[in-house]
Amino acid sequence: MKIRSPIVSVLGHVDHGKTTLLDYVRGSTVADREAGGITQHIGATEIPIDTINKICGNFIARLSIKDTIPGLFFIDTPGHAAFTSLRKRGGALADLAILIVDINEGFKPQTYEAINILKMYKTPFIVVANKIDRIFGWEVHEGASFMESFKQQAPVVQTELDLKVYDLVGKLHEEGFQSERFDRVNDFSSQISIIPICAKSGEGIVELIAMLLGLAQEYLTEQLEIHEDAPAKGTVLEVKEETGLGVTVDSIIYDGVIRDGDEIALMDTNNLVKTKIRSILRPLPLEEMRDSKKKFKKVDEVVAAAGIKITAPNLDDVVSGSPLRVLSDEEDAEAELLKELEDI
Ligand code: GTP
Ligand code: NA
Ligand code: MG
Repeated sequence: MKIRSPIVSVLGHVDHGKTTLLDYVRGSTVADREAGGITQHIGATEIPIDTINKICGNFIARLSIKDTIPGLFFIDTPGHAAFTSLRKRGGALADLAILIVDINEGFKPQTYEAINILKMYKTPFIVVANKIDRIFGWEVHEGASFMESFKQQAPVVQTELDLKVYDLVGKLHEEGFQSERFDRVNDFSSQISIIPICAKSGEGIVELIAMLLGLAQEYLTEQLEIHEDAPAKGTVLEVKEETGLGVTVDSIIYDGVIRDGDEIALMDTNNLVKTKIRSILRPLPLEEMRDSKKKFKKVDEVVAAAGIKITAPNLDDVVSGSPLRVLSDEEDAEAELLKELEDI
């Protein structure tokens, strides 16, 4: 049985640094180019394990984390108040989540909203306390691990950071979660790790990545097993008109295989929509799916997990959030889809 990449959704209040964190991991500048600095769509990026190992250097090897998963599949969500349904969609898809909080601002309305989404779907999550570079007196150490950088800070700065971390611990406690700074956690199954980071300098990001890999491999392996030859299952992120392609659907495939020419079923507001795939476009690894259509590559088939753009006739009325199934046994797919639709 093949293991797919875990889908990791990044959730949090507006401007707390979700896109900047993913930019650091991708080596990209998506956040800088967003209109008004606001994310307005769900994003998806595949980070292959090789890239992850490069970012983490020998950090992962030292922790003896085996790299049995092929990578991490990140979902970026908008934090602005207007985008509740997109946050829910991002939350529903996640195997794991990162709840990002600006350490200097603490919990804000969409932080609570994100927590409620995580509770609703029972998604395991890590808390990232971002923007540690803004703590008064913090000395930045580009790309360093949190522990390495923390050790080199003045004692007052260290104390200030811990006070802010304990504020988050208190807020999480009010929400019914036990948590600790990650290096003080002794039971990862009952305590949530808080990882202080700076998304701009990369401080703490090695620990964050290592933690995601560790949790995925410890707690998620069964959930990540895929049926490589089974008809694909997925979710529609967005329905988009693209010049020259007509109406397309951006989708996340989380199980099975999908091929050019396959019959698929999706949903409009009330009914099943069936169509035949005209082409499958896949972004290159490390490319943000919502970022640019130039960097898509036409492929014959895709095995989960993957983010793809599908072109096909008859997609006009498909709704964002719709389940997507490759049809083999039509009746089964229909029943399954109708059942899933009730959960949207
Ligand atoms: P939405 O998607 O619109 O909810 O925002 P976001 O959570 O994706 O935040 P974004 O990445 O757009 O960052 C918001 C602002 O914070 C940008 O100006 C970033 O450059 C800045 N920022 C993000 N992380 C850090 C950090 O670690 N330190 C500092 N100093 N600024 C940061
Ligand atoms: Na923003
Ligand atoms: Mg963003």
